[in-house]
Amino acid sequence: MTSKKEVRILLVGDPGVGKTSLILTLVSEEFPDEVPAKAEEITIPADVTPERVPTHIVDYSSQEQDEDILQDELAKSNVICVIYSVDDEDSIERITSFWLPYIRTYLGDDHKKPVILVGNKCDLMDFSTEEIMRPIMNDFAEVETCVECSARTLKNISEMFYYAQKAVLHPTAAVYNSEEKELTLQCKKALTRVFKICDLDNDSILNDDEVHLFQVKCFHAPLHAQSLDDVKAIVKRNISDGVIKNGLSLKGFLFLHTLFIQRGRHETTWTVLRTFGYDDNLQLTKEYLSPKIHVGLGCTTELSFEGLQFLKLLFQKYDEDNDGYLSPPELQNLFSTCPMMPWGPDVNNTVCTNHNGWISLAGYLAQWELTTLLDVPRTIEYLAYLGYQYLKDGQLSAITVTRDKKIDLDKKQTSRNVFRCHVLGAKGVGKTSLLQGHLNRNLRYVATLNKEHLSSFTINTVQVYGQEKYLLLHEVDVAVSDMLNPTEMNCDVACLVYDVTNPRTFEFCARMYLKHFLDSRIPTLVVACKTEHPPIRQDYHLSPAQFCHKYKLPPPQNFTCIDKVNREVYIKLATMAAYPHVRDIISRDDKIYMKIGLVAAALAGLGFLVYRMTATHSSR
Ligand code: GTP
Ligand code: MG
Repeated sequence: MTSKKEVRILLVGDPGVGKTSLILTLVSEEFPDEVPAKAEEITIPADVTPERVPTHIVDYSSQEQDEDILQDELAKSNVICVIYSVDDEDSIERITSFWLPYIRTYLGDDHKKPVILVGNKCDLMDFSTEEIMRPIMNDFAEVETCVECSARTLKNISEMFYYAQKAVLHPTAAVYNSEEKELTLQCKKALTRVFKICDLDNDSILNDDEVHLFQVKCFHAPLHAQSLDDVKAIVKRNISDGVIKNGLSLKGFLFLHTLFIQRGRHETTWTVLRTFGYDDNLQLTKEYLSPKIHVGLGCTTELSFEGLQFLKLLFQKYDEDNDGYLSPPELQNLFSTCPMMPWGPDVNNTVCTNHNGWISLAGYLAQWELTTLLDVPRTIEYLAYLGYQYLKDGQLSAITVTRDKKIDLDKKQTSRNVFRCHVLGAKGVGKTSLLQGHLNRNLRYVATLNKEHLSSFTINTVQVYGQEKYLLLHEVDVAVSDMLNPTEMNCDVACLVYDVTNPRTFEFCARMYLKHFLDSRIPTLVVACKTEHPPIRQDYHLSPAQFCHKYKLPPPQNFTCIDKVNREVYIKLATMAAYPHVRDIISRDDKIYMKIGLVAAALAGLGFLVYRMTATHSSR
């Protein structure tokens, strides 16, 4: 649960205060009458320490060691115990006149390494030095706590080392500002994210069920009803609006954590923070944000059922007015647990929206599929910000890595759901309109869009033989050299677009096909745009139809989107992407689609039957 793998405790202080005695007493559980100047470094194995981390304890002796060694040890340690002797005023005075400033000189004025003030030999005095220590703690923020002990009587010996361990594992400085007596900004921010993730119904209150789940997730044990009532009573007594409608408000939640820390129960707050991925500096750890995912050559990444389910729930949580669209504030709110908005304004022109440009549930899921296909680490990272691990297992369960496309091609079947189509065409032939048409937008609507926010991608679902598949269209800008790099060639179907009203546009399609796709295994569809106009003869030695026939391509597909968008082209592209092996047949007989359709439908039905049989079987 903690980010530290071991703890290194360094003891410093004036000669004779009892450093070596303290260490030897801890180890042998009795006070040694004779001690060497310096104890050997000792290592306490994880299983005998309260926090279950291997702990090294390092002595320092000015008699035996020079300053270089001291500085080196200061740097290597995780926590520094400054020991003084309660009966020796000089050793007390030296804490502020020498030791604390000295440590700052070598670790930096605002170093974050915790320091503990340890008053040894308390067996010799009747009064406590606590009052003297308090102002020192106020002046030196790095001082985590102070403790009085005695090596001779063993008083507080194990406690002292436990505090030191705790100071490292649950550092105060990151979460609490002791001068202001409140949580640090960073900590408030982190806990606010935690609160939002745990507030499953998004009503800004943690009700009893939500608190219950939170307890189980963080502490692996439920909170008893009575304890929960007690907690709420404490919050109620101390601040207004901490408890609303018998649930904890964010204010109440933050207050509780302030209280935990003020009462020395840092580990409670830290356990929560670690559960939600934070490291000692309240940054989300790399392991939490970016678990390794292996995507082999030829494989693609899609959202799994679990992933889609989580994202759908998230949408419903933040679609406060339940209209099926995310308004700008709703979208902002959905991503408020993330360091920044993952989507720019172009997303509105990448997926389906309503006429206000607000993203629909389908559009939102499509955008996630797009990110998952093109940039899966980003999806994984954002799932972490959004709290996927709180409701599901690690983020990788949200992702399906498909098998190598070569196997799909050889076996002539695929279980993929997201396909990639690259759209190529000369300037002005209507590529953007074709892309926008995929979102059911006609020319009139496209004309109203802000050109700056147009995207070179659009993604939407298409029915392929009764099954919903995602088709991602990507408008590829072809370089002057006509070259396409491997990424630009990496698609499941190519769409070559020409303009029936411009005679110089088909030649580009033919050139691209011969240069890049003829010898590839990528199915290709030629699309004739603007077919509301009569076609003009193309300046090419073959007509588009002759060309397609010659190369066994499907005949040119007509497309127009002036009013009503002709969706056939998208169905065809998606079908060719999902069933690439039929590329040479479809050109001759469109009916083959029907046959494959029946087979696919039969297979889907079979899957259903098998599922039902297993389901009945196992329920018996
Ligand atoms: P240097 O190595 O010289 O820096 O000293 P140190 O801090 O390691 O002190 P050390 O452990 O050698 O103890 C110094 C003296 O104080 C010894 O005579 C110890 O017996 C005595 N002493 C240590 N702890 C206690 C204690 O808790 N109570 C009493 N009464 N005497 C102690
Ligand atoms: Mg010593």
